Amino acid sequence: MPTNSDLKENNLMEKIVSLCKRRGFVVQNSEIYGGLANSWDFGPLGVEVKRNIKNYWWKKNVIQRDDVFGLDSAIIMNPKVWEASGHLKSFSDPLVECKSCHNRFRFDDLKEGKYGKVVEKGEKYLCPYCQGELTEEKKFNLMFKTFLGPTEDKASIVYLRPETAQGIFINFKYILNTSRQKLPLGIAQIGKSFRNEITPSNFIFRVREFEQMELEYFVNPQEDEKWYQYWREERFNWFLKLGLKKENLRLREHQKDELAHYAKACTDIEYKFPFGWGELEGIANRTDYDLKNHQKYSQKDLQYFDEETKQSFFPYVIEPSVGVERSMLAFLLDSYCEEEAENGEKRIVLKLNPLLSPIKMAIFPLVRNQEIIRKKAQEIYFALKQELPYSIDYDEVGSIGRRYRRQDEIGTPWCVTIDHQTLEDDTVTIRDRDTMKQERISIKEIKQWLQEKI
Ligand code: GLY
Repeated sequence: MPTNSDLKENNLMEKIVSLCKRRGFVVQNSEIYGGLANSWDFGPLGVEVKRNIKNYWWKKNVIQRDDVFGLDSAIIMNPKVWEASGHLKSFSDPLVECKSCHNRFRFDDLKEGKYGKVVEKGEKYLCPYCQGELTEEKKFNLMFKTFLGPTEDKASIVYLRPETAQGIFINFKYILNTSRQKLPLGIAQIGKSFRNEITPSNFIFRVREFEQMELEYFVNPQEDEKWYQYWREERFNWFLKLGLKKENLRLREHQKDELAHYAKACTDIEYKFPFGWGELEGIANRTDYDLKNHQKYSQKDLQYFDEETKQSFFPYVIEPSVGVERSMLAFLLDSYCEEEAENGEKRIVLKLNPLLSPIKMAIFPLVRNQEIIRKKAQEIYFALKQELPYSIDYDEVGSIGRRYRRQDEIGTPWCVTIDHQTLEDDTVTIRDRDTMKQERISIKEIKQWLQEKI
C-alpha cells in the first residue's frame, strides 16, 4: 500500500478533489451553468469541517481566554477605511497583459513559470500562452469594487473587505470601552473576505472569496517582540494539536521585501502541500500603523490611556491571521491514507482529528432485514441526535464492511453496531476508525463515552 508521502508525490491532490466532490465536501460553484472559475461551494460534510475548524479556533482564542473579545463587523465599510488602511494605494499585485491574446498575468508568477514555460526574447518576457508581446508592468488593486445604493457614480463606490482586520481596528475604542480590559487586549473575528486574485489556484487554496479567522492583539509597544514570539508558538501548536504532522509544517519569516505595507515583521505558518509549501497563516507585527492612520483620517482619538503611568499611546498590534479553506485543505491532505482494511480489502481513510470530523459517530443495525434490530438502531440514533451537539449518521445499506468503508473515507472516528446481543443485554459494539478494533459498551454509556473522547 502506498504511504501518505508516496501519494503526495503522485496524485494526492486529485484524490482529495475527487473525494470532496463524490462525498459532499466541496463542489464547483454554479456547476449547473458550467461553473464559475475558482469558486467553490461547501456541501453537507464540508460545512461541518469548516464549522469545526472555526469553532475550535474560537474556543481556543476567545472562549478559553480572558483577554480576547469577539466581533462581527460589516463586510462593506465606509470607503475611508481603505484610504486610511493603505489598501487603496498599496494592496495591489504587479500585472502585465499580452498585447495579442489579452490575457493578464501576475508578473512575479509569470517569471517563476507558474503559467507554464517561461518564454524570453532578449531581455523581455513573452506571453506564456501565445508568445505575444507583454505590456509594461502595472499595479492592479485586488479589492472588489461595487456601488452603494442606486447611483453608480464615484461617490457611491464601496469595497468588499479584503481582510476582516480593519473592522477590528475601527472598533478598537468601542471594544476597549465596553470590555474595560487593560492591555494586552485581543479582538477576534471570523468572516468572509474578498480579493480579486489574478491567479486563483490549487482548488480551495487560493480563491477570491474566502473566510478568515483573525485576531488583533493590542499590546504595549515595548512588549511587541515578546507577544510576536508568543503568537508564533501558540498558533503553530494549534495546528499540531489538530493533527497536522510536524514534518509538514514550518515557520517562515518574511524577507523585508515581502512584508505587507503595514508590517514590521511577519512569519508564515506554511504547510507542505503537494504543490509546494504554502501559507496557512501569517503572524504579523502591524505596529501602530492602523490605529495611527485611522486616528489621522477619522480625527477620533484612538489612543490607549494607561491608568498607571497616566500616559496615552498607540498600542502595537500582533496579528495572527488564518485562512479557513486552506486550513481545511491541509487537514484533508494530511489525514488521507490508503491502507488495508479488516477484510484485507483496500480502504481509503481520513484520519482526521475527531474534533474536525464532519460526522462523529455512525449507527448501524447489523442486519436490516430484522425489524427489531433496525428499530433499536434507529431509536439509539434519534436519541443521540437529540442529546449530543454533534453530527451523527445512520446507515443500513450494504454489508457492514461497506458501511465501514463509507465512514472511513469521510473520517468518521467511531461506528456503533446494534446486533443480536444488543437485544439481550443492551450493549453495542464501537469500532475505532484508526485501529479498526471494537469494544462493547452499554447503550446508556454511549453519550458519555463520546463526550469524553472529543
Ligand atoms: N489581515 C491580514 C491579511 O488579511 O492578510
